[in-house]
Amino acid sequence: MYIYIILILILKISINKGFPSSENYFNISNSYGIEVYYEDKAGGFDFNGDGKQDFIVSDGQTNRVYVFFGDISRYGGQRPLKVSMIDGINGFSIDIIKNDIRNFFICGDLNNDGYDEIIIRMSNHQLKIIYGNPGPFKNDFSNFDGIDGFVIDYVISRKDYASYQVLCDHNGDGIKDLIFNTLDAVYVLYGLDNGKKFPTNSGKFDINFVSNGTFGHIMNRSYTLNLGCGDLNNDGIDDLVTLYYGPATVVFGLKIYPNPYNPVLHGTAGFTLDIKANQLEYIIQSGFGDFNGDGLQDMVIVNQDLKSIYLIYGKQGGIWESHFNINSGNSSEVVKFVRDISSPQELCDSIYFVDTNGDGLSDISCSVFTLPYTWGVYGTTMKLPSVIDLNIKTSPLLGDCTGFIISNTAGTISSWTDFNNDGIQDLIAQFRSDQKNYILFGEKTIISASLNIINNSITYNSNGEYNFLEFNFNPISSGCNVHFITFKILDSIDPSDQLSFSSSNTTSSDVVSISNSELQVFNTNRDPNFLQSLSNVLFKTNRNSSIVTISISYLNIINDTIKIFISNSNPTITTTSTKPATTTGTTATTGTATTGTATTGTIATTNTATTGTATTGTIATTSTATPSPAPPVTSTARTGTATTGTPPITSTQVLQNNTINNDCICIRGQICLPDSHICVNEFEVYHGGSCLQNSCALGYDCKEKSNQIYKCVKQYSCISCADITCKSPHHCILVLTTSQKCKYQPTCSN
Ligand SMILES: *[C@@H]1O[C@H](CO)[C@@H](O)[C@H](O)[C@H]1NC(C)=O
Ligand SMILES: *[C@@H]1O[C@H](CO)[C@@H](O)[C@H](O)[C@H]1NC(C)=O
Ligand SMILES: *[C@@H]1O[C@H](CO)[C@@H](O)[C@H](O)[C@H]1NC(C)=O
Ligand SMILES: *[C@@H]1O[C@H](CO)[C@@H](O)[C@H](O)[C@H]1NC(C)=O
Ligand SMILES: *[C@@H]1O[C@H](CO)[C@@H](O)[C@H](O)[C@H]1NC(C)=O
Ligand SMILES: *[C@@H]1O[C@H](CO)[C@@H](O)[C@H](O)[C@H]1NC(C)=O
Ligand SMILES: *[C@@H]1O[C@H](CO)[C@@H](O)[C@H](O)[C@H]1NC(C)=O
Ligand SMILES: *[C@@H]1O[C@H](CO)[C@@H](O)[C@H](O)[C@H]1NC(C)=O
Ligand SMILES: *[C@@H]1O[C@H](CO)[C@@H](O)[C@H](O)[C@H]1NC(C)=O
Repeated sequence: MYIYIILILILKISINKGFPSSENYFNISNSYGIEVYYEDKAGGFDFNGDGKQDFIVSDGQTNRVYVFFGDISRYGGQRPLKVSMIDGINGFSIDIIKNDIRNFFICGDLNNDGYDEIIIRMSNHQLKIIYGNPGPFKNDFSNFDGIDGFVIDYVISRKDYASYQVLCDHNGDGIKDLIFNTLDAVYVLYGLDNGKKFPTNSGKFDINFVSNGTFGHIMNRSYTLNLGCGDLNNDGIDDLVTLYYGPATVVFGLKIYPNPYNPVLHGTAGFTLDIKANQLEYIIQSGFGDFNGDGLQDMVIVNQDLKSIYLIYGKQGGIWESHFNINSGNSSEVVKFVRDISSPQELCDSIYFVDTNGDGLSDISCSVFTLPYTWGVYGTTMKLPSVIDLNIKTSPLLGDCTGFIISNTAGTISSWTDFNNDGIQDLIAQFRSDQKNYILFGEKTIISASLNIINNSITYNSNGEYNFLEFNFNPISSGCNVHFITFKILDSIDPSDQLSFSSSNTTSSDVVSISNSELQVFNTNRDPNFLQSLSNVLFKTNRNSSIVTISISYLNIINDTIKIFISNSNPTITTTSTKPATTTGTTATTGTATTGTATTGTIATTNTATTGTATTGTIATTSTATPSPAPPVTSTARTGTATTGTPPITSTQVLQNNTINNDCICIRGQICLPDSHICVNEFEVYHGGSCLQNSCALGYDCKEKSNQIYKCVKQYSCISCADITCKSPHHCILVLTTSQKCKYQPTCSN
């Protein structure tokens, strides 16, 4: 709830480029009102074959159904659109009582004549189909006589099951097929070629033509609820998703089917996955499109509780397991979207997978019934993490041009159509304030930003402080604002490293220190000059000498590095007395320092006081970086602590779960080779993987793997900084212990 409030607050101050974010921002250039109240709609189809997209809506006031032809130019600027404008020229009404409709409309060309059909599921278990045509149109369409339209009639006994239909090319002949379910089977009615019409008896099509294989085939699957269709294995034939109360199935499309077709799903004919059907027969649980721009169709699917969405990347010629593990955590295969990971909430009552921002990639968008907003995440070529929380600050929903939120939408199904004929999909949605519908015009989102760094190499500074961007960049950006930026120290990290950001007006940005080596600065106020303010980023270190590489990134848009060459004559040595600390430190570290003085020096430099007797297992838990001494925090002897894996907790430190991941840390003066976890002296080139002559990174032991090949092996029983999270402003440092097994103990230090 708390996070939700933050989200709403952020919404109030931001205007998403791409869509007006709420009614407050509607105007004649970004939206168009439609005076229809409540209910179902479908758009993006071309009924009259004029190349413009049409939409169909049901209206709660007249209790009728209306087709509005596109595009906007038909309506002569009259606002809002009204059903009274529909006269057989701008569109037509259908002689169907809205309340007799079971669920949503689907539209597509079933007979390959270039005109999309409209298919309506009725509560009396009929499907009503209107053939698309060039007109003229009878305004009050009622002609389901087999010529202008027809009816598929069938027997059914349960309301909630078997009320679903989808359109796609399931037999790979290039023509869409109509797939619908009855109580005990899924019917695949093959589309016809050359504008043929389906045979009927007084307008009624007999479904035995499908079950006996004349016009299609059936799958014996009873009690199916929800269907989906698209080409997940990218073989040119659409695959069929069926959802039940049991695991979902994906049945790969074939050119020719036996009838009935009841394949065993061992991966070659299809597979199962742990997604169940929601019992509402009017929601859309799956969609197909290309999210990551690899040219392959991907699938999005919403689980039964409507709390998680899985993006499953399509493959071509890949091997599918008989059971696809949606929770594998392998982000090359599946990405999960949730709203609040710790207590997931309903976030998607109907999903759409269409390109909503005109960049050629399919975007995920959802209508939510329980929440007052409609949201979308734009497709991206960037590699995503395996789980995306749509509540957190880096969520695509809260970033300019990475997604959108439109506030105050009502709990009905939305739809997409290109009403203003600009090649970008527009959203038709109902709003809470007046319960009216609006068409919101999509806008192509453009985001480009560059830091234009002048010199990527910085020499050392006498005080150990580096404002490495100040006077060293000429940032430019256009289109969307940069939402946040991440600074990260690459390679080895020294305990004294500290990235920070300060600004004279810090309220305009929000800084999150993930660790002392990673910093995120958020453009909370969507300030177009945000990048300029980054000149205030500061890197501080007590390092003696080394190269520090700092990466500066924002999604895949900004990706720069700056190298700081810290020379040997860094004066921090002179301001830091190594001697006194060494005296106390030596006792505690006797026999444990891997490289003698260098190790001792590290600890001694960063700790103002190191107490700890030479008792085995004593942990010297300390304290602060040299310039601002703090009272020493001392832990008493904790025999065996380091090996039992319990982090030391002191009164001023709060340990939480892991967010830091720095498992390749060497002592000062050395750098860590990330693959082998071997520490080598700076400027030394070492390509081997053996740790016989070199030491291993902190937390790693040199062990014989085989035949005298020694490798660094993680000390699994010891904890590292990766195992603890220090509450800001504390950060994790590694402290030398006298334990032979776990030489370094992570601790929180300010
Ligand atoms: C409509 O609002 C958009 C912002 O959503 C703005 O860019 C545009 O100039 C406005 N148009 C008019 C005519 O007010
Ligand atoms: C298939 O069913 C239809 C409709 O009942 C019937 O007219 C036709 O003869 C049947 N065809 C075969 C091959 O059984
Ligand atoms: C599949 O359904 C058809 C038509 O309803 C029926 O004739 C057939 O017996 C069913 N087969 C199985 C294995 O249930
Ligand atoms: C993750 O999936 C990719 C693509 O299928 C595969 O190549 C890779 O081996 C998988 N990784 C793991 C750790 O299973
Ligand atoms: C960048 O800065 C380094 C260190 O000050 C200097 O040696 C180098 O010549 C500079 N490079 C350019 C292109 O100015
Ligand atoms: C923050 O400071 C910059 C420059 O100092 C100024 O342009 C900007 O308007 C300020 N922002 C706020 C929110 O005060
Ligand atoms: C940034 O650049 C580095 C080096 O060129 C590359 O390895 C990395 O994948 C890039 N990151 C992104 C997010 O593009
Ligand atoms: C730091 O520099 C001093 C003086 O050059 C040297 O004695 C000391 O060993 C250095 N420490 C490290 C950790 O490199
Ligand atoms: C830490 O993780 C454990 C289990 O992994 C979990 O039970 C606990 O709630 C977590 N604590 C915090 C503070 O996140």
